Amino acid sequence: MEIASLVFTPKVPQVNKMRVSAPSGFYSPDAISMRVSCSSTVQGSDQLSASKSQPSRLVGKGCKLVGCGSAIPNLQVSNDDISKIVDTNDEWIAVRTGIRNRRVLTGKDRLANLSVEAAQKALEMAKVNPDDVDLVLLCTSSPDDLFGNAPQIQAALGCTKNPPAFDITAACSGFLVGLISASCYIRGGGFKNVLVIGADALTRHLDWTDRGTCILFGDGAGAVLVQACDSDEDGLFGFDLHTDGEGSRHLNISIKENETDGLFGTNGSAVEFPPKVSSYSFLQMNGREVFKFACQVVPQSIEIALENAGMTRSNVDWLVLHQANKRILDVVATRLEIPADRIISNLANYGNTSAASIPLALDEAVRSGKIKSGQTIATAGFGAGLSWGSAIIRWN
Ligand code: ACO
Repeated sequence: MEIASLVFTPKVPQVNKMRVSAPSGFYSPDAISMRVSCSSTVQGSDQLSASKSQPSRLVGKGCKLVGCGSAIPNLQVSNDDISKIVDTNDEWIAVRTGIRNRRVLTGKDRLANLSVEAAQKALEMAKVNPDDVDLVLLCTSSPDDLFGNAPQIQAALGCTKNPPAFDITAACSGFLVGLISASCYIRGGGFKNVLVIGADALTRHLDWTDRGTCILFGDGAGAVLVQACDSDEDGLFGFDLHTDGEGSRHLNISIKENETDGLFGTNGSAVEFPPKVSSYSFLQMNGREVFKFACQVVPQSIEIALENAGMTRSNVDWLVLHQANKRILDVVATRLEIPADRIISNLANYGNTSAASIPLALDEAVRSGKIKSGQTIATAGFGAGLSWGSAIIRWN
């Protein structure tokens, strides 16, 4: 991408294309004038050196999803397999969650490898060369490397021009956060091709003796290529994004407290030094609270995103929600009065794959011919944080 050579040409945005109000969504008429004036007078620009790395700002650009891909680990674990480890059974799991199988990352498998495979497929579909990727966003809460997996993925893909690559941690809302971030980088930052990967291996963080959580999760990766386009081709119509940190107690993978306690005495002197290597507790979840939270916020969030997009429920061709529990998908569809045959669901095969679940479901539905070019998708993520968000998008 030639960020440094892009010239900002202020355009008067067309109000009917700028459908989203701030802080959720993209633009309101008020926000437009604010953004246009901000970007046309870069504060302090006279003090900036002529550094070529200073990105130009493009306001009024559109962005669209032009490729998708996914990858899953080889090992399949059925409900019957899990019932050999904990006191549960296929019927209980299937009725309460809709899950029958999940894939589990094992041995020398790495999340980075799955992510690379998914990203390569998305680039292939988009007909975009790795060297034309301007930004790699890896949405994950379970990286192979705590410093981030995105750089390794960028290198493995062969992005030789050193585009920025970093991880985004927002649990099961991660992909939504990544998608909306990509659109902001494109609309406000002049980026052209942004790879958004959702990948998680939460099975690494499960207590396999806890039947309340170990039945739910699986591993996988999905990716989309988000590309800049003219505003009249814009395919990301509106969004809504939130976090309620008060709710983090209901769902977390926290650092073990007893290993960081007692490091310093009351006078600040070290009583235990050097510190022990830190480790994380298993995933902890209050399932009932998370269930209630999801059923309440997701329909509201989609309504807001639709409103920001200037659309109604009747414009939605497909509902592609975070695949957490079939009962949550059904409740959301019922509240939005969207027919059951408009729900994309692959929960039965993969369980809850966290940040991977939306792009994985999208990819399967696109490749099977279910979701067609030009169709409108309402998508929503929700989970730890507690966090949630929605976007109204057009496929391709
Ligand atoms: N097999 C058999 N019985 C079980 C199991 C199991 N795997 N798990 C729990 N039970 C039992 C409980 O012990 C309880 O028994 P009791 O009545 O004798 O005490 C009974 O079944 C009911 O338990 P609940 O926890 O109330 O079951 P519930 O209907 O709430 O279902 C579930 C549990 C499936 C976890 C549900 O609450 C859920 O899906 N919650 C949402 C989870 C979610 O969406 N997470 C998304 C975010 S993930 C992220 O961000 C990483």
